[in-house]
Amino acid sequence: MVDFNLSRNQQITKFKDHLIVDGFYEFPDRVRDAAFSKGFEYRSEAVSYPGAEGYVDAHDWLEIHGRVSQGLIHRHLQSGGEPPSAFTQHKKNFHQGKFRIATALDEIYRPDGVHQDFQRWTGVVYLTLPQHCAGGFELYSHSHTGALDANDPRYIEFLENMLAAVPVEMHDYVVHEHMRDKSNWTLIDEIPLAYNRFIIAMAHCFHATGVCFGSNIQSARLSQHFEFYDC
Ligand SMILES: [Fe+2]
Repeated sequence: MVDFNLSRNQQITKFKDHLIVDGFYEFPDRVRDAAFSKGFEYRSEAVSYPGAEGYVDAHDWLEIHGRVSQGLIHRHLQSGGEPPSAFTQHKKNFHQGKFRIATALDEIYRPDGVHQDFQRWTGVVYLTLPQHCAGGFELYSHSHTGALDANDPRYIEFLENMLAAVPVEMHDYVVHEHMRDKSNWTLIDEIPLAYNRFIIAMAHCFHATGVCFGSNIQSARLSQHFEFYDC
């Protein structure tokens, strides 16, 4: 089993409701190599991310999930004395530690847009080499209402009005297209990509994956993903 230790020299920065951890893995090149050790697949069903994904059984990624939730999240992001066990590993059919890759071509055909996640915390390790990094994790407000999340009454009212004359069977499509159209959204912040940077993003707010780039898998946007669910 390859050694995928977390670094002891992580630089941790709190950014609003989010956490940025630079120097996450001790040997990020090994994780990159692992990501490329198997292929990536495009999923046929509707997805909320650009590009393809792959899972590599080279490590017990759940062990890293547990260390993050009981360490970084508990120490830096939880409040009110919440126990560190408040985040489960299996709430959706999600492979903790999966990899995603997206090139400039995927930018053209990307199906995703601004969204808000089911899980409270989203963890992403960026594994694109420094010379290729571009874009990042984007945070948005809804341009028509100023809402920062889908529970804002102004956003709920806007959707109700927008959908009032739309057949029910078209609602999901119309909302999805509204979220994909960036003219409906105002970029308010961006956490830039950086090699071996781990971000723990508070995902109950409007956000999007930044620009995809690269002409091949070596120069593409490569990331590893974890989700942290409330019990
Ligand atoms: Fe997300």
